[in-house]
Amino acid sequence: MVDLAALEAEARESLAEAGDEAGLESWRIDWLGRRGRLTSVLRGVRDLPADERPAVGAGANRLKSVLEEAVTARQLELLAAVSDGPALDVSLPGRRPPLGSLHPITLTRRMMERTFRDMGFDVVEGPDVELEEYNFDRLRIPAGHPARDMWDTIWVADDGSGGPRQLLRTHTSPMQIRYLERRQPPIRVIVPGTCYRYEATDATHEWMLTQIEGLVIDEDLSFAHLKGTLEAFVRRVFGPDIETRFRCDYFPFVEPGAELGVRWQGDWLEVLGCGMVHPEIIADAGLDPDRFTGFAFGMGVERVAMLRYGVRDIRHFYRNDVRFLREFDQFRGTA
Ligand code: DAH
Repeated sequence: MVDLAALEAEARESLAEAGDEAGLESWRIDWLGRRGRLTSVLRGVRDLPADERPAVGAGANRLKSVLEEAVTARQLELLAAVSDGPALDVSLPGRRPPLGSLHPITLTRRMMERTFRDMGFDVVEGPDVELEEYNFDRLRIPAGHPARDMWDTIWVADDGSGGPRQLLRTHTSPMQIRYLERRQPPIRVIVPGTCYRYEATDATHEWMLTQIEGLVIDEDLSFAHLKGTLEAFVRRVFGPDIETRFRCDYFPFVEPGAELGVRWQGDWLEVLGCGMVHPEIIADAGLDPDRFTGFAFGMGVERVAMLRYGVRDIRHFYRNDVRFLREFDQFRGTA
């Protein structure tokens, strides 16, 4: 007769010695596995004399579930010991991942965008690689026109296919035309984006810049609307006491054209170009220029950022020097 009580005692004793997952696993193999001790007892039941079979069979089956419970309990005990004990101190503070901040140009661009959004403007973007036609011709700057010299252009290499010429947009103004192709007045939109033109002749110019273009078209808009809108914008950005002046300027796609300057530390500083949208551009868009009028403007984000943060050399913005960029951590969460 098999002594099930002695077998259980032995199994429990060796289970108590299993101190980790590997120990538990080999105990399982020894006792409950296919060739385990208890398994062979169960298998041997059929060879026993008929009168012993029922008692031993029932007892061995009961022992099997008892041992299965015991091993689960032992496993939980070991797990609890691991998380309670000194081996893993979950109270140790975590390591804080280093946090960056937004780039100063992004901070400034978003602040400018928000100001226009508050005035009811939509915000859209356009392609950096542009067709010559949109960047120049349809803005009334045909090939050979001296106004093209205002933009020292970076052309995309001709692939020889005879297709239209492409360039890196020299300004965001081509989006005026693209937007007019798709939308009907009333139009009130700004277009932020990167532009490319070689101007790196002093510390405030580079070969690229970020611009914000604006276009407003509706019935009965006058130069007074242009002045009111842009002065409101400048006051929001530079403070309520900022002094402004408009002076005549020339851009082929507006008539009349102007520049807006602000008085900054005693000097007049140009912050944007603007004007009333040229009637030919309105007519080219399929609109009646006697009914629809509007104004447009374009400004550099870098210029505003330099004034706002007191940065004297534009190249700091593109150098990716973390000692410079870290200065803007203080503005984290403000954009
Ligand atoms: N596109 C001009 C530039 O890059 C800026 C400009 C001037 C935009 C007058 C306008 C405008 O929309 O009306 O120099």
